[in-house]
Amino acid sequence: MILKGNIIFTSRPDKFETYPNSYILVIDGKVKSITKEIPKGYTKEDVEDLGNSLIIPGFVDIHVHAPQLYNVGIGYSKQLIPWLNEYTFPLESKFKDIEFAYKAYEKFVKELCKVGTTRSCVMATLHKDATKILIELFEKSGLGSYIGKVNMDRNSPSYLIENTKESIRNTKELILELKSRNRTDDNFKPLVNYIISPRFVPSTTPELMKGLGKISKDHEIPIQSHLDENNDEIRWVKELHPECNSFCEVYEYYGLLRKNKTIMAHCIYNEEDEIEILKKYNIMVAHCPQSNFNLSSGIMPLRKYLNKGISVGLGSDVGAGHTLDMTLMKHTI
Ligand code: GUN
Ligand code: FE
Repeated sequence: MILKGNIIFTSRPDKFETYPNSYILVIDGKVKSITKEIPKGYTKEDVEDLGNSLIIPGFVDIHVHAPQLYNVGIGYSKQLIPWLNEYTFPLESKFKDIEFAYKAYEKFVKELCKVGTTRSCVMATLHKDATKILIELFEKSGLGSYIGKVNMDRNSPSYLIENTKESIRNTKELILELKSRNRTDDNFKPLVNYIISPRFVPSTTPELMKGLGKISKDHEIPIQSHLDENNDEIRWVKELHPECNSFCEVYEYYGLLRKNKTIMAHCIYNEEDEIEILKKYNIMVAHCPQSNFNLSSGIMPLRKYLNKGISVGLGSDVGAGHTLDMTLMKHTI
């Protein structure tokens, strides 16, 4: 594919290059060259001329809940725990119905395309069949993503809870099914991948956390969850786990922190020893400023993390965040 236009290219996070009125050559999904003239060996007929348009990299949303799109904009007078109970859990329970799930997830993938988000890390619901549908819709779309069914086996409403063994079995089944469909040769990186997604400590038993950590190790699968988002949540985690010194340590203690393979959303109130744990495992922090504002969760110390060399990406956290549009994730550093 050769496109012509005003190209913005970001080959590294600290490099921002612009190429007015140029040609970008893409082979097998990879940028091969950006040139002032038509690349050698090609003719005008091979070029899609986009005139004066900007050609920019796709956006990346490293923390978003696909089922929650229908709830954007409501419930923001509540903080995290009541918001989950009153708005989020009732909506997520509807994904038991696969026809409902299909419609909702089709809309979600379409909306991601509309706002130019070409890569995302997605939490689904605890339902295996609905999550399969979401995986298949992403495969058809050509968008890249990491997707996981949510795991939750405690402190959840009776209509949205699973038992520990079932949760582990269904997670393994989704991983193996996706693996069997993806090519396994060394250089091939599939566009759609699995990510293990325990909801957060309060809704995941130690047995489930350990089981999921083992699956992550056995199959080399990344992990995503929530950490230090809200003061009531943090107090609750401390009550549930007196054996650990901090929220972050609970994930470490039960084997859910995998070096270079873990994303933690929010990280607003991390204490110094928790920041050390983030560094030790090179955990990627998903900064979700819109969500943190909407649920009055707090302000994440972004500059502090960046100065300490912690990797940070942006997450819309829809539906606590009210938009999928990554250009609207504003934060003053
Ligand atoms: N913590 C546990 N579940 C959720 C969720 O769905 N959204 C947010 N923002 N935080 C959570
Ligand atoms: Fe979230």
